[in-house]
Amino acid sequence: MAKRAKKRKSAARRTSRPQKKLSDLFHETLKDIYFTENKIIKTLPKMAKAAQSKELAAAFNKHLRETQAQVKRLDRVFRIIGKPARGKPCEAINGIADEGAEIMKEFRGMPALDAGLVAAAQAVEHYEISRYGTLRTWAEQLGMSDAASLLQETLDEEEATDKALTELATSVINLEAEQEQAEAA
Ligand SMILES: [Fe+2]
Repeated sequence: MAKRAKKRKSAARRTSRPQKKLSDLFHETLKDIYFTENKIIKTLPKMAKAAQSKELAAAFNKHLRETQAQVKRLDRVFRIIGKPARGKPCEAINGIADEGAEIMKEFRGMPALDAGLVAAAQAVEHYEISRYGTLRTWAEQLGMSDAASLLQETLDEEEATDKALTELATSVINLEAEQEQAEAA
């Protein structure tokens, strides 16, 4: 009897909880990517400064300018949903950024530094591509076509950045690292 009463109570507790919907999940994930973009704005100048290749430094600086515009786009998405533009600490991006910082420290002045920087930047891009793809799809499902277009615009930029980094890695950076290694041998 007591057991049955307890069961009823927990069921009641379950139903009295506020029901979180897709719009809540959208808002939470938007806060996550807002934190991510702002974190990247602080990280990219350090990566550009550390890069040995001029092309790589230029790519980081270009993406810094894009990222600043991406934050503005996110501000607009927050306005569309009627919420304040605010980030929520994301441990995933903090971890990826920590790994990048470690590479900058451990490989400072080494031939493989730029290859490591590209790898760190691509890890960030892939995280962002995943988040923006999800957010774009949810915006569509929630009937927010303006928000979906803004998110798609940023997604396109992230994909282009990822591709540019792959090209840099295959054309100059990794080859330079290998050549220097061969010369040293
Ligand atoms: Fe971004």
